[in-house]
Amino acid sequence: LVVDASDASGRPIPNTLFGIFYEEINHAGAGGLWAELVRNRGFEAGGRRVPSNIDPWTLVGKESHISLRTVLDSCFKHNKVALKMDVLCDKCTSEVGISNPGHWGMNIVQGKKYKVVFFVTSAEPLDMTVSFRKAEDGGVLATSNIKASASDVSNWTRIETTLEASASSQNSSLYLTTTRKGQILLDQVSAMPMDTYKGHGFRTDMVNMLIELKPAFLRFPGGCYIEGQRLKNAFRWKKSVGPWEERSGHFNDVWHYWTDDGLGFFEGLQLAEDIGARPVWVFNSGISHTDEVATSLITPFVKEALDGIQFARGAVTTKWGALRASMGHPKPFDLKYVAIGNEDCGKKYYRGNYIAFYNAIRKVHPHIQIISNCDAHNQPLDHPADIYDFHTYPQNPREMFNMAHVFDKTQRNGPKAFVSEYALRGEPAGTGDLLAAISEAGFLIGLERNSDHVVMASYAPLFVNENDRRWNPDAIVFNSHQVYGTPSYWVQYMFRESNGATFLKTQFQTPDPDSADASAILWQNPQDKKTYVKIKVANLGKNHLNLKISLNRFVSSDLTKSTKTVLTSANAVDENSFTEPRKIAPQKSSLESPGNEMNVVIPPLSLSEALEGI
Ligand code: AHR
Repeated sequence: LVVDASDASGRPIPNTLFGIFYEEINHAGAGGLWAELVRNRGFEAGGRRVPSNIDPWTLVGKESHISLRTVLDSCFKHNKVALKMDVLCDKCTSEVGISNPGHWGMNIVQGKKYKVVFFVTSAEPLDMTVSFRKAEDGGVLATSNIKASASDVSNWTRIETTLEASASSQNSSLYLTTTRKGQILLDQVSAMPMDTYKGHGFRTDMVNMLIELKPAFLRFPGGCYIEGQRLKNAFRWKKSVGPWEERSGHFNDVWHYWTDDGLGFFEGLQLAEDIGARPVWVFNSGISHTDEVATSLITPFVKEALDGIQFARGAVTTKWGALRASMGHPKPFDLKYVAIGNEDCGKKYYRGNYIAFYNAIRKVHPHIQIISNCDAHNQPLDHPADIYDFHTYPQNPREMFNMAHVFDKTQRNGPKAFVSEYALRGEPAGTGDLLAAISEAGFLIGLERNSDHVVMASYAPLFVNENDRRWNPDAIVFNSHQVYGTPSYWVQYMFRESNGATFLKTQFQTPDPDSADASAILWQNPQDKKTYVKIKVANLGKNHLNLKISLNRFVSSDLTKSTKTVLTSANAVDENSFTEPRKIAPQKSSLESPGNEMNVVIPPLSLSEALEGI
């Protein structure tokens, strides 16, 4: 490998190149990144008519002592279903009530505090116990007693209490119980850990995994999620903003679960800001998987998109900017990218709808970058766009690896490319194995090489809750209390310094160019402010490569700073797991022969990086 590290050889890599794509799939948000512990907090998930199924809430106590019914009596306009609890026993000898196991068990940690909020009304005085208890034996982990006079709760009243856990369990439930006879109406029951990331409601361990990737952008909130199987179930931003208790929630009919919409549009923008990423908002183009709005009727959708942009960026004096400010963020969010629809290009009304959105947004926001769903990598677009979206999910590792060349011949005079979804899928990828990761590493080397045209790229999907694998593989796996990155996550990690770096010319000679590829960048380390050459080699082959690397630039005399980082494992099918979360993770060592001429051994099935100061 010959690396031309002279200043003249370099070309800047866009500082937007590698980012992430968050979608509400696999319980990524509800029961995941969004730290809310209660599932179906408004009792709406079973349907908006009564009687409604209140799953996963269950009855506590003897059935003869309590009756539970759903009623349309809530104080909340958009979610009318509430729970009526009739306590029938007079001076009950044992407590009765309801419990909620959250999403496959709540993680309650000794010493941590939790804010529990619920809305209640009753004609009688209230005497309730709020507690977290272990699933296994009902052992109490934290408890609080709520007392109120009848006049205090004669109208719907918000109750808030803080619970501090005296013991831990990763599989707990929230209990609301009483021994007092009477009728109680309940709605919007929430339990939030008080140590969420910056107090913004996100699970800190999961956010930290994102921050580690130094993502340049956050595409959100979907994916198919924004399309819906049917339009009536598509994610619509207006229903996801404002006070959480007033949000209606909706059935995510593509990925088959209810979401209370705690992680809504505002939270997506907040997340992007918190992790230092540019938000890329994807909104519905009037098209779902099974129904479409004709272009002649698309105006309300266009208005909704413009209102959404105003919500994100508008001054506090605007209608939607004022709502954003009321949610705690008077400063506009830095929204500069919007995508019109997801994978809708071939649909009957996409082109017409797209142009209506495009013209309206362009007129009001000339600097917002507009992303089309139509692939322009081998033919020009027939409509205006700043960027076009490109998705690829090959099922064959070699095909994934060789996708590195997909943009080699693309004309450079059209819109730029955004590879907003890529991953190896199918059997060879398992639930996220080494083979998948290395095949993707080859693809990413190709994207670096084509980064004069490809300006953004993100893996998909980002998260999976191990209890609801709707899509395999994924970058980050979690349960109620643990989280780990798949090898694909670590590949992204090894490319994170490419954003804004300088791409160098290289000549690479290898016996099998279909299974090995290399790239080199100049990178300024923000810590020591020094410049480094970073060489990455992806080897999909079964054999070692004895690589000779020549650099035409003096390297730093401090060769102790020259390192080699390798991502590999013994077998192609090896994966990380909760028991071995870092079985496959980058391993750093000293370079064997640092200097201008290096001999580096590249293991089979690996991504290797050589780093030298200059
Ligand atoms: O990443 C999973 C899904 O794949 C996305 O929702 C969709 O855009 C694509 O089909």
